[in-house]
Amino acid sequence: MGSLTSSVDAPLGDARALRSAFPHLHGRIYLDTAAAGLCWQGHGAAVARFYDEVKSRGFDARPQWLAQTQALRARLAAWLSVEPADVVFVSNTTEGLNLAAHSLRLPPGSRVLMAADEFPSLVGAWSRARPAGVELVPVPIGDEAAREAALLDALLGAPPDTRHSSQDGQPGSGLCVLAVSQTHWSTGTTLDLPRLGRACREHGALLMVDGMQALGAVPTDLSLVDIYAASFFKWMLSGFGIGVLVTSTRARALMDAAFRGYGNLDDPGQLQYAHVNIPAVYGLDATLDFFERIGWPLVHRRVQWLGGHLVDGARRLGLPLVTPPTARAGIFSLRCADADGLRERLAARGISVSARGDGIRISPHYYNEPEEIDACLAALAETAGGR
Ligand SMILES: Cc1ncc(COP(=O)(O)O)c(C=O)c1O
Repeated sequence: MGSLTSSVDAPLGDARALRSAFPHLHGRIYLDTAAAGLCWQGHGAAVARFYDEVKSRGFDARPQWLAQTQALRARLAAWLSVEPADVVFVSNTTEGLNLAAHSLRLPPGSRVLMAADEFPSLVGAWSRARPAGVELVPVPIGDEAAREAALLDALLGAPPDTRHSSQDGQPGSGLCVLAVSQTHWSTGTTLDLPRLGRACREHGALLMVDGMQALGAVPTDLSLVDIYAASFFKWMLSGFGIGVLVTSTRARALMDAAFRGYGNLDDPGQLQYAHVNIPAVYGLDATLDFFERIGWPLVHRRVQWLGGHLVDGARRLGLPLVTPPTARAGIFSLRCADADGLRERLAARGISVSARGDGIRISPHYYNEPEEIDACLAALAETAGGR
């Protein structure tokens, strides 16, 4: 792997040397990381190392598993600009969002603001809280470029009695939570978390974030986020079965863990209730090494650069791009008729993308080449008419 770094010149560079680690890229144009990222070959080897330890040492290897889990927690915390105590491991984003929503003590009169077209996991996490007197306020999104402004307007318009006084950790008459996806699963619109976080703090609200479609594609700073969940199988290329829930101290002061077990029986403030997916810990740690050998700034710059290439290409071909060119991560949505049929026609040509909403979702990651985007856009332009 050592030679990879020098062979990749950001942002225009050639990531071809790295592509040998991803066999699926040979003979297929894979532009569907927003569905699932490709695992590099070393990931599976790291997971297998855990099972070899169980085979050869059984539970005697437990101190090693705990140490590796603690080290990964600290590594992720430093990367996300939070403290290790803020990070718990969960199985997936959906579990993290639910655990947080159900653990918050929400006084009657509390309100949760979220975009009307939010991902079902964020909606679902709050749907059970409704009978407890919590009002879910859907925020209509008319124009993608104004998504963030619409959310901010809704926050600023929230009645003062639902703004939480966060100074002493005691809820007032109600709590206001702004719940967002950092990058929207369908349109790709990407929000400015520090800006939303500042607005929430100024208005006594909590900021809750589903980071699934952004983590690994764009820099993530959680210093002003109160609740954050993401898993690692998309832009982090790390397979299924592990995620993180990150909570701020001020959010935890308002929580009693909804799930209880041997991990937190004596401490309702502790959200980690049982064991974590240790083989996935091994895999994720190895894949963080992989990314760090390339360098995160280079990964993020290349995702932006590939996206810019896609935006220009779509414009040239007259393909209607839904994603705002200035507020994006790695997801690009092109509006079209019969998105399912179009996706199938592209798949038959060896191009993997997704159909989402009334459009085609294209999601290039670091390992893609601009020529693959060109081929996909050309095929889209050619087949959009049903050919
Ligand atoms: C925005 C968003 N949140 C959550 C999920 C689901 O994540 P998980 O399977 O980790 O719960 C997805 C996609 O699968 C997603 O696009």
